[in-house]
Order: sequence, then structure tokens, then C-alpha cells
Amino acid sequence: MTFMLGFGVALILSMWTTVGCDVLAQGVLQMECREHYFMVAIDLAVTGPNPQFEAVDMTGVHALTEKYAAECGYSINILSFLGLVELRASYFSCHTKKNDETFVFNFNVNTSIDGKEVTNTLNATCSPPLPWAPREVSCEVNYMEVSVQYESACPHKLSEDWSSVRPAYSTSPSEWQVTFQKPDVVLAPMNFTEARKQGYLLELTNGRFVFRTPYGQPDSYITKENGVQVEVVHASIFSRRGWFVIIVDLVAACSTNQGMSSDGYMMWDTPEALYSSVSTTQFSIGLNGDLLGQENAKQNGFIVEKHNNTVRIGIPYNAVGGYRKTFVDGGIFEFHIFLMYLKQVSVDDYRRETVVRFHRTLVTPLTPYPLVTEDQTVLQDGVFTVFLGNVPDDMELTSIQLNGQQFKLPLPSDSTFMITEEVQPDNTYSYTLKMLFSDPLVVQEFSKEHAAMLHQLNINYTLMVPGGSEPYHYTTSVTALLDVSPPVFEANCTASGITFMLGHQPSDYLWEFSIGTDLLTMELVTRRGYIMSNNSQTLVLTAPLFTRGFDYRDVSLRGFYGTFEILVRDHDTSRVRASTIKTCFFESREFIMCSTDGMMTVAADLSGVVPSGQMPVNFHLYNKLCVPNEVNGTRVLFSFPVNSCGSVVKLRGNVTYKNKILYTPKKNKLRSRDNNEGVTVQCTYSINSLSRLFSVFKFESDTEGVGNIIHSVQTTPALPTTAAPLQIRMPIHLPAYQGNQYISGIYDLAGSFRKGKGSRQGKKNIL
Ligand SMILES: *[C@@H]1O[C@H](CO)[C@@H](O)[C@H](O)[C@H]1NC(C)=O
Ligand SMILES: *[C@@H]1O[C@H](CO)[C@@H](O)[C@H](O)[C@H]1NC(C)=O
Ligand SMILES: *[C@@H]1O[C@H](CO)[C@@H](O)[C@H](O)[C@H]1NC(C)=O
Ligand SMILES: *[C@@H]1O[C@H](CO)[C@@H](O)[C@H](O)[C@H]1NC(C)=O
Ligand SMILES: *[C@@H]1O[C@H](CO)[C@@H](O)[C@H](O)[C@H]1NC(C)=O
Ligand SMILES: *[C@@H]1O[C@H](CO)[C@@H](O)[C@H](O)[C@H]1NC(C)=O
Ligand SMILES: *[C@@H]1O[C@H](CO)[C@@H](O)[C@H](O)[C@H]1NC(C)=O
Ligand SMILES: *[C@@H]1O[C@H](CO)[C@@H](O)[C@H](O)[C@H]1NC(C)=O
Ligand SMILES: *[C@@H]1O[C@H](CO)[C@@H](O)[C@H](O)[C@H]1NC(C)=O
Repeated sequence: MTFMLGFGVALILSMWTTVGCDVLAQGVLQMECREHYFMVAIDLAVTGPNPQFEAVDMTGVHALTEKYAAECGYSINILSFLGLVELRASYFSCHTKKNDETFVFNFNVNTSIDGKEVTNTLNATCSPPLPWAPREVSCEVNYMEVSVQYESACPHKLSEDWSSVRPAYSTSPSEWQVTFQKPDVVLAPMNFTEARKQGYLLELTNGRFVFRTPYGQPDSYITKENGVQVEVVHASIFSRRGWFVIIVDLVAACSTNQGMSSDGYMMWDTPEALYSSVSTTQFSIGLNGDLLGQENAKQNGFIVEKHNNTVRIGIPYNAVGGYRKTFVDGGIFEFHIFLMYLKQVSVDDYRRETVVRFHRTLVTPLTPYPLVTEDQTVLQDGVFTVFLGNVPDDMELTSIQLNGQQFKLPLPSDSTFMITEEVQPDNTYSYTLKMLFSDPLVVQEFSKEHAAMLHQLNINYTLMVPGGSEPYHYTTSVTALLDVSPPVFEANCTASGITFMLGHQPSDYLWEFSIGTDLLTMELVTRRGYIMSNNSQTLVLTAPLFTRGFDYRDVSLRGFYGTFEILVRDHDTSRVRASTIKTCFFESREFIMCSTDGMMTVAADLSGVVPSGQMPVNFHLYNKLCVPNEVNGTRVLFSFPVNSCGSVVKLRGNVTYKNKILYTPKKNKLRSRDNNEGVTVQCTYSINSLSRLFSVFKFESDTEGVGNIIHSVQTTPALPTTAAPLQIRMPIHLPAYQGNQYISGIYDLAGSFRKGKGSRQGKKNIL
């Protein structure tokens, strides 16, 4: 498996000051002299994806190929998921300058910055932080290395003699031979030069015999120790000096257990007694090269247990220093990577210490990591709410396709929909998409089956692991059925008008409202004197009596019916789809209506005018022939064309038709005088709304007139009788109504309705 994963973890950087101030200096993330090896971690961004290392010493420059590195004690680990390459070099690696106390490492690292190949040098000097044990074993990822002290290789009592013969070994390693053994087979001996050609390295240095072998050599064999697989290379070196033969056993054996996943732990086994008989063993374990003591490790959740001479190490999935990664391959999977480092210290019966160090990269199997979606839409909100959850924290939503239209994230600020990202308590991420049902992207179609509007949103999420190659697509579809019957207002009568109320619906946007042909807007409401409140829940419209839009019928002194209608139209076509009509009965002692077709209908109470002693009386208008439609005591109802019955017309920006309800006592008819006391009634029409009056000569106002009942007692001289009507001449052309048609001219504005001439009241009136 290739891990093409991003830099997920921030390493604690410890810069080595001796590194020159070149490009590499910025790339070196960590450089350390550890117990048995030197390590350096370099940013892959600096080295490029395939970093090339060379080891440099007096003999020249040696490219660290895979094979050569394994033979010579170098281990190069490209950890793309961390964005770094780690080089570990054994203190006994081939091209390390070994002095008594220090080890000097020189490397060339090829970096590629802006396409420019640069060779950088990297130098480090280490003094081993701890004295070495008589036997040190390194189970690296690519090789096994054993080093033993001269002294410890021999019985203790001979140590004096050893010091005298030591120079002989050091100066002529060629005198040494090596044989490799497999179970039941002993191979022919060879000299070190010959062994080196076969990939083995044998060396006498710093007072130690060093033996190194890559894994999988022809002379290696696999054995099982209590069920744990172990790779072994058994080398014996010997030197013959006359009758005196010295043999040193150099066994390299390492557990090659691959690890096993179990219950949230990565388990890894190694035999306790890899190296001969063992009386005590101690373990230190850690990740990324940091070691914790056995007790400390247990406190940190690690398992260290022994069964049947097998040591089992358990690393919890959530161990600090472990890496959790997401992998996309047709689906989303997760796995954990642990860069395990284990130090085993054992003491044998001769109280000689053996230290074994393991470097193992343990990878858990892929486990599916399914995303979850949830349709959280609440129909009443009118918004699709779709939740996408369980998104791993190293994955991100990069784009979204909504009904086939692709949008890159982050969305622009003027986007019509919203996606909010949230961290969940379990450290996964969630994305919540909100889109209005009315959004043009939402597909709407009428569903006959449900008799409702089906709103549909197909979502195709694209998620990526940053730095990963393969995008992951996740699709889901949400639908909402919206009732499409046009809304119906609830209407109530009040003493002074009609109130309509509508609870908002998600489907509101499908409709618009109008009063007649005029769209219900705030502007209309203000202009006409309606009262409207519109909050998130309800729309309330009150039409006060006598505002435009009312129709009146059955007008009598008892009262009248007023009707108001709100039309519901299709928002797209403006076609009327429904209406709410409310008719209310209104009672009022007095009222006046000035209709668009020029009728003044007025109920007035003349109780303040007619002395009670004079009742009964006859009521009339300026023109005495114009009598009430209805009388009840002092209350009278008149209904007449505004421009008849002797109405007086005033033009002052608008047109006012004024008349007066007068009375004549019934008795003593002959002796009665004309009475000028009464109630003035008038209708005022805006001149603009009367434009048709001048073109088609028909009284037709765009708007109703404003009526007024004026009770002030007149003190002016009595109005002239019919014989001498008030004549006001106006030098304008106003149409007059004669025999069902208007004629143009200059007219007697006070009205000239004369006895016996008209067949029907109002028909022959002059304006
Ligand atoms: C590393 O050592 C080599 C040779 O010893 C030297 O030429 C080079 O300048 C050194 N580089 C640094 C960065 O110190
Ligand atoms: C490193 O770069 C130098 C100079 O470009 C080149 O000669 C050398 O072969 C490169 N080394 C490796 C290991 O690629
Ligand atoms: C090692 O052995 C090979 C083959 O036996 C021989 O050719 C070579 O000279 C020997 N090298 C030394 C240094 O003895
Ligand atoms: C130990 O080994 C014995 C015999 O091989 C086996 O029966 C037993 O199950 C082993 N115990 C464990 C914990 O593996
Ligand atoms: C989702 O989108 C991707 C790329 O935009 C496309 O390849 C894939 O076929 C889409 N999936 C579905 C189910 O439409
Ligand atoms: C109409 O009257 C009913 C009953 O009195 C009341 O619940 C409702 O709120 C009223 N509606 C309006 C629009 O005033
Ligand atoms: C009422 O308010 C809603 C928003 O809350 C708006 O969409 C609607 O157009 C308003 N209706 C009228 C008649 O103003
Ligand atoms: C006249 O008005 C009174 C009270 O205002 C009422 O009781 C009576 O019925 C009315 N008469 C007629 C004929 O309408
Ligand atoms: C008529 O004109 C007067 C004066 O311009 C104005 O105050 C009044 O509101 C107008 N009335 C109508 C009904 O237009």
C-alpha cells in the first residue's frame, strides 16, 4: 500500500545548529543522536518525493541505494503521510568516521527547489549517550545488526590475555573467517571480503565485533519460537593462531511478526528469549523513537505482557504518537500507523547484558469508515437541511454538486445556499447544507399522486484527503412534498373594518396577493390606508371601512354590508388561483359613501337640526324634488348621483360635490318658509381619477370619493329657491349628463334639475 497522505501531524522540531544556512536547514525537521543510531528527519517538500542520499567519507561518495543501505547500516523511511523522510544510521554504519568517543556522519542530500537540483551536505557528530552493552542487537526495518564486545565474547578470566592479543585482530581482520549455519547445515568458511560480497558485513571496530545482514539473505532461516516468526542468521567467526582457535558466535535474530489488530489494539509479539537463556528481561517501548519504561508505558495504555515465553506488546489505536489515516479506495477506510520502537534488555546467567532494539512500522488493516447523512428538513421552515456526518478529520469536502450543478468550496458569500462545517465530539466533521425550497436549483414538479409539489435536491458530495489522489463521491437525494392548494386567509369582522390573517407556509413563495389588480405591497398599504403587519409567522391585513377595495350593498338606515376581497395569484403567471371574500354587516348612525360611478349614499341624523316640535317634516336636498330613500325619525338615507339634486361643484385641486339635507315642515305647507338649516354632505374626488369624465363623458372615477357629513349650523342667508338657483359659472369644459350621455359645454354648476323635466332622478342632471 502506498500512503499518499498529507502532513497530518506537527512534529516538534529540534533544529541542529551545525547545519549550514542552506535550503536544507529549513527542511531538517529533527536531527538527533540516539542511543544506538543517528536520525534525521527532512521535509519532503524540500527533498522532493524521492529523496536521494549519499554517504560521504574519505573513500568517496556512496549512493545509498536500497540494497546498499541495508548492507551498510542505513535505513531510509519515506513517511509521505507525515510529509517527511527519516534517515537512521547505525553508529557502525559503513561510512561513519569512528573515533574513540565520537562518530562523524557526512551525507549528501539532493534537494529539488523550484525544479533546481541542489546537493546539500549534512554533517553531524555524535557521542553515544549511553555506554554500550556487551551485546547490542538492532532489528532495523531493513537489516539486523549485532555487535559484541571482545571481552564479553570470552570467558572473564582470559581478559588479561585478550588485551595483549587484541591488536592482532584489529590490524588483520583478513585472518578471520566466518561460517554460516542453518539448522543441521554448516556452510564452508569464507573470509570477510568474500562475505561482504554476499551482502554481509563483518567488522572489528571500537573494541567490538560487528555483524550486519539484510533480511532475506540466502543463509538466513525462519523459525518459530512459541508461534512467533523469527528470522535468524547464525554466523560464527573464528581465528586460528597455531593451536589456539577463537570462535565468536554472532547470531542475528529478530521477530518478524507483522502485528495483528485486536480490540482497538495493535498487537505485536516477540520471543522473550531471543538470545540464549535469559534470566531477566526489561522492556521500554515507544513510538517515533521515544521510549517509555515498562511501567510508564502501561500507564500510557500500552500492553506489555508475557505468555509462554512470548512478549506481547499492545499499542492502543489512540496512543499518543500513533497516526490515524483515511484511505479512499472505492469507499472511505481508516487505518492506524505506528512507528514502534522497542528496547529489550536481558541479562543472561553470566550476568552479561544483551540489548535488542526493534524498529517496526505497524499498520492496522483497513476498516470501513462509512459516512452518514440525515435529512433534517422541517417542512414548515421551507428549507432543505441535509446533514453529512462522520467525515474523518483528515478529509474535507471540496465541492458539491446540487442537481447537476457543481460548486467549489468554500462557497462565495453571495451564494444562495449555505454549508456549515462543525467538529463533532468524536473529532469527526459534519457538514450541514441548507437550501431554500424556492431556490432555483431545486427541481419542482407537480406530483399527481400526492396532489402536491414535489421538491427534489440531488446531492453529490466530493470529499478529498488533502494530498491524497482519489476523490470520494457520496450521493444522496432529498425530497419534500409541498401542499399546493392556494392559501386561504382567515377573516374577521370588526366594528370599523375587516381583518384578514394568514399563517406563513413554506409554499408562500408560490403565491402573491392582490386587492383587485393591485399587488399587495407595503406601498399599496400605505397609500390606501390599510394596516398590515407581517412577521415570520403571520401576515395580518386590516382594511378599515371606506378604504378602497370595499363594496357596499343593502345600504339602509339599519346599516349596510361591506365586502372586501383578497385575491391569491400564481406568483409566476399572476393568474388568480383563489380568493378570500369577507362580507360584514356594519351599523352606524351616520355614514357616507362616494362610489366610483358617482353615487353619493349618505345616512345622516338631523336630530340636532330639526326642532322636535316641528316633526314630522319632509326631508330633501337642495333640489326639493330629491327626497330620501328612507326615513326613520330624524335619520334619513339619501342616495343620488353626485352631480344632481342641485349639488354645488368646487374645483380646488380636486373636485368636490356638495349638497345639503334640508327639511320642510309638513303642516302649514303653504305658509312655511324655506329653511336653510340642515346637514351638509359632500363627496370629493381627486381630479386625476376623473380623467375619463373629460374623455368619454361618463362619470367614472378610478377611486372612490371621500365623503363628509358636516353638521355645522349654517348662518348664511337662505339658499335661493328653485326659482332662482345658485348659478356658478365656470369657464371650464365639464361634461354634463343628458339622456344617458354627457354633452360638453359651460354648465350651470348648481344643478338645474327642474320639476317635470326629468323622467328619473339624476338622469338629466347637469353637473
Ligand atoms: C560537511 O563536511 C564536509 C566535509 O567534512 C564539508 O566539506 C562540508 O562543508 C560540511 N558541511 C557543513 C554544512 O558543515
Ligand atoms: C545528486 O545530485 C548530484 C548533482 O546534481 C548528482 O551528481 C548525484 O548523482 C545526485 N545523487 C543522487 C543520489 O541522485
Ligand atoms: C578471500 O577469499 C577469496 C576466495 O577464497 C580470495 O580470493 C581472497 O584473496 C581472500 N581475501 C583475503 C583478503 O584474504
Ligand atoms: C501456552 O502454550 C500452551 C502449549 O503450547 C498452550 O496450550 C497455551 O494456550 C499457551 N498459552 C497462551 C496464553 O498462549
Ligand atoms: C458525482 O460527481 C462526480 C464528479 O463530479 C461524478 O464523476 C459522479 O458520477 C457523480 N456521481 C453521481 C452518482 O452522479
Ligand atoms: C378572528 O376571531 C377568532 C375568534 O374570536 C380569533 O381567534 C382570531 O384570532 C381572529 N382572527 C383575526 C384575524 O382577527
Ligand atoms: C411578508 O414577509 C415575508 C418574509 O417574512 C415576505 O417574503 C413576504 O413577501 C411578505 N409579504 C408581504 C405581502 O409583504
Ligand atoms: C327606527 O329606528 C329605531 C331605533 O333606531 C328602530 O328600533 C326601528 O325599528 C326603526 N324603524 C324602522 C321602520 O326601521
Ligand atoms: C383635495 O384637495 C385638497 C387641497 O389640495 C386636499 O387637501 C385634499 O386632501 C384633496 N382631497 C382629495 C380627496 O383628493
